[in-house]
Amino acid sequence: MVILITGASGGFGSKLSKYFAEKNHKLVLQSFSREVSIKEDANVFSFSCDLTNETDVKLFMEKALSKFGKIDVVIHCAGISKNAISWKTSLKNWNETLAVNLTAPFLINKLLLPQMKKNKFGRIIHLSSVVSQTGFPGTVAYAASKAGLSGLTKTISKEVGANGITVNNLALGYFNIGMIEQVPQDQVDAILSGIPQQKLGDPIAVCELVQYLISDAGSYITGQTIPVNGGMYSY
Ligand SMILES: NC(=O)c1ccc[n+]([C@@H]2O[C@H](COP(=O)([O-])OP(=O)(O)OC[C@H]3O[C@@H](n4cnc5c(N)ncnc54)[C@H](OP(=O)(O)O)[C@@H]3O)[C@@H](O)[C@H]2O)c1
Repeated sequence: MVILITGASGGFGSKLSKYFAEKNHKLVLQSFSREVSIKEDANVFSFSCDLTNETDVKLFMEKALSKFGKIDVVIHCAGISKNAISWKTSLKNWNETLAVNLTAPFLINKLLLPQMKKNKFGRIIHLSSVVSQTGFPGTVAYAASKAGLSGLTKTISKEVGANGITVNNLALGYFNIGMIEQVPQDQVDAILSGIPQQKLGDPIAVCELVQYLISDAGSYITGQTIPVNGGMYSY
């Protein structure tokens, strides 16, 4: 399969890239300020761009589609979190967070869905967060952007359900990778005390879940926000 991963230079993006490279899939990897760790070759195409820029995103999709002729799977890993209490959150930070976390997935999906419909196959995976379900002080833009992914997921899944395309959203708790590396230890300890399993998640759980969702076995699961959170939140 041809798998496109945004935010492939980040914690989850790197893990997922390595996991699917080892399974011999063709990869389209997007990064922004850093480089991806997997070298380009006949099976790997990497592209650096700012996903808040519509022109960049359009060029990225054109290049990606011309490289392998199709995209079967999109895993939206690019994301930012700019923490501040609601009344101190600037409009600039709000807009930037929404642009990377919600508008970019919308735009990429919009550009890729016509060829997925034509191919009668597609798998779209969004990476959301438990804070979109529980709320968490100081994360207003992040939580709102991630909650938006739930509506995006449900709606697109209904629009393309008859076209062999599934769309799902993983509401992740706290994992021992990526964004958590910027969090001071005292805050990590506070987070741990709120996780029933009393530990951070291992990203392999997310790799294996994505693998299931893109396989034939996962083809009847669509439109779902799936919690992966060590027991922090359940419906
Ligand atoms: N780690 C966790 O515990 C956790 C928990 C819940 C949800 N999540 C979600 O999972 C996803 C991945 O998280 P992570 O921990 O792997 O984050 P991360 O390590 O901070 O990676 C974020 C990625 O987003 C890219 N990015 C940021 N701004 C961009 C922009 N304007 N245009 C294009 N790309 C941009 C970064 O590119 P560069 O590095 O190249 O600049 C990087 O590849 C995020 O959506 C996050 O919200 C993570």
